Amino acid sequence: MARRTIIAGNWKMNLLPDQAESLVMSLVAVTENKPDLEVVVFPPTALIPYAGEWVSGSSLQFGAQNCWHELSGAFTGETSPELLRALGCGYCLVGHSERREIFGESNDLIGLKTRALIQMKITPIICVGESLDEREAGTHLEKIKSQVESVFDAVEMSSWLRLVFAYEPIWAIGTGKTATPDQAEEIHRHIRDLIRERAGEALSEGISILYGGSAKPSNAAELLGKENIDGLLVGGASLKAEDFSNIISVF
Ligand code: 13P
Repeated sequence: MARRTIIAGNWKMNLLPDQAESLVMSLVAVTENKPDLEVVVFPPTALIPYAGEWVSGSSLQFGAQNCWHELSGAFTGETSPELLRALGCGYCLVGHSERREIFGESNDLIGLKTRALIQMKITPIICVGESLDEREAGTHLEKIKSQVESVFDAVEMSSWLRLVFAYEPIWAIGTGKTATPDQAEEIHRHIRDLIRERAGEALSEGISILYGGSAKPSNAAELLGKENIDGLLVGGASLKAEDFSNIISVF
């Protein structure tokens, strides 16, 4: 089964409504006539209701950067996956390293969120990745294994084809320091091997794995040329119309 190819733009906590609208407008034309590519932007939560109108009639998609794992209830300040579904989100990021590090999200919580998103038919993009200390100590493969396996433990195998992973080494996020294509490919292969060990060849080959961490026009083609890199999760460069368009134009 062919894997989905996805170019995703994580805007993080940036952009006001008019800035976001003009960015979306300039991306709409670039995403036309690319039937094998999914382009998804992730605005801040408060802009999600506008995003549905901005992308309507185009092939550009949008998603949320985070959600809670219950569908409703007394969870002040949180966002329900059911509400995200109602607002038209096709995707939601889960377990971004900023959520894990700044907001203390655990592997167990990330598993619960992933399960809730699957229930709501929203594609979760589960972010995994190691810190510089972990890479230097040689524990990075173990770290990623525990992050990936906690998702497997939370989600029925019959839904695994709906999962997307994103490898985002923390030391490469917002630092301008990209993992080399070979470093990224090694981890993507590792994640695919973990899937194969648990679920066999078909699922292992069917699940898309994106790379994120200082992805930009100058390194996009080389990263995307690797066998196990199925797309990019772009931060800073997704806020600039020209840079993000140039990344999309690699296809
Ligand atoms: P940068 O592309 O700014 O390094 O951010 C990557 C990221 O965190 C995407 O989720």
